[in-house]
Amino acid sequence: MTSPYLIRLCTEADWPEVWTLLHATFQGGDTYAFAPESTEAEIRAAWLDAPRATYVLREGDAGQGRLLGTYVLKPNQPGLGSHVCNCGYVVAPEAQGQGLASAMCEHSQREARAMGFLAMQFNLVVSTNERAVRLWRRLGFDIVATLPQAFRHQRLGLVDAFVMFKTLVDKDTLDP
Ligand SMILES: CC(C)(COP(=O)(O)OP(=O)(O)OC[C@H]1O[C@@H](n2cnc3c(N)ncnc32)[C@H](O)[C@@H]1OP(=O)(O)O)[C@@H](O)C(=O)NCCC(=O)NCCS
Repeated sequence: MTSPYLIRLCTEADWPEVWTLLHATFQGGDTYAFAPESTEAEIRAAWLDAPRATYVLREGDAGQGRLLGTYVLKPNQPGLGSHVCNCGYVVAPEAQGQGLASAMCEHSQREARAMGFLAMQFNLVVSTNERAVRLWRRLGFDIVATLPQAFRHQRLGLVDAFVMFKTLVDKDTLDP
């Protein structure tokens, strides 16, 4: 990515463009479990209201240019599982293949560490989403489980999904 961009917290003013990007992405029915017919209110609740934090990646030094990506960060489980976080990332189709998801994932790991999370888990990485699987592996995530036919792909039917996991701190920190 040669042109400047900024990753920052999502504001109310960002939401209409974030929704447009998410709507187009989820309508594909090939990467996220959100139903393709999900309403704006449902997706807003899941992407903007429920997470610990929601971010946007925008063109320009001040982050005021075109919306190119968004991600969310939240605890993966309540209570005794809340030291493991979960993230979801979307990059605009025209901006893919330029390192933006890599940048958002690295950013999310820094944010997660700063918030005190010890590990990051992706719960449903669709096995046919090869770009995503390759990317997360390259960034240090392991496939720790394969969920047989756990995703109902809109074109391919039932396909496997992966649980992917990365420890964010020194392994010794995880010892009791
Ligand atoms: C999956 C997704 C997030 C990847 O986003 P992306 O911005 O294209 O990812 P990156 O550019 O960081 O990495 C993708 C590829 O570009 C390459 N790349 C990284 N930096 C690059 C650069 N500066 N120039 C050219 N290519 C680059 C990466 O090496 C990677 O190559 P690979 O596919 O051979 O592994 C994006 O395709 C997307 O939003 N898909 C729809 C939603 C989705 O699937 N989300 C993830 C669910 S688990």
